[in-house]
Amino acid sequence: MDLKQHIAKDKLPLHVALIMDGNGRWAEQRGQERIFGHENGIEAVRDTVKAAAEIGVKYLTFFAFSTENWCRPHKEVETLMDLLVKAIANETPELNENGVRLQAIGDLESLPLRCRQKLEEALELTAGNSKLIVTVALSYSARWEITHAARKIARKIAERSLNPDDIDETVFNSALETAGMPDPDLLVRTSGELRLSNFLLWQMAYTELHFTPVFWPDFRRKHFYQAIIDYQRRERRFGKVTEPETAAKNA
Ligand code: IPE
Ligand code: IPE
Ligand code: MG
Repeated sequence: MDLKQHIAKDKLPLHVALIMDGNGRWAEQRGQERIFGHENGIEAVRDTVKAAAEIGVKYLTFFAFSTENWCRPHKEVETLMDLLVKAIANETPELNENGVRLQAIGDLESLPLRCRQKLEEALELTAGNSKLIVTVALSYSARWEITHAARKIARKIAERSLNPDDIDETVFNSALETAGMPDPDLLVRTSGELRLSNFLLWQMAYTELHFTPVFWPDFRRKHFYQAIIDYQRRERRFGKVTEPETAAKNA
């Protein structure tokens, strides 16, 4: 069955966020070290980016490394960072050719220098693209982001360039790492875990959630398309109630 045929072009999510989970368990099931799972997760990212570009999703945001992930064994963190540098270097030319812009959110200053340099090169190289915006969340956690935003706003108040009474959702949004981006319409989390693990907590107030038991290294375009189809079956109400008359008119 060609799943793509079942996707309604006029109801596409503008922004899909993904929690790529289950790499370690995928590797353990194969009697391998956890890092083997991370290595095999790269193909899943490639396939997801291609799948999104093909149907016209405009924003993809991948949770690649959380603030809390720094507490993993030193060897896993080191190898993950190296893998990241390698993947960015390998993928950037193709991303660039396909009109993909790479962005990063999170506490990038906490990344090892070699990672930051590679990342900055890739961000610069793809800065002029706009077909698809791929954002990688690195050393990211929503609580870090929100407290960081509060600090930025407090500084403006201290400098008297902002009045406390003018703080509203727009002001807060623009102090977040995701300033200028639309909120995710759909979140996909792999590996069967049913939680958000400190990802985009502010932005996901009304995001539709899709959980799949598939481990991230096995995630492919068909799973991505299944998630979109699931999303398109949902009724998004945003807390509102549609009057029967309006509903009939819109039908
Ligand atoms: C996701 O897979 C990748 C990162 C968090 C970096 P995990 O490494 O969390 O794998 P599991 O969840 O332990 O199987
Ligand atoms: C969330 O996965 C973070 C990333 C995918 C980068 P984790 O594996 O770190 O989350 P928990 O520990 O299961 O909540
Ligand atoms: Mg995990």
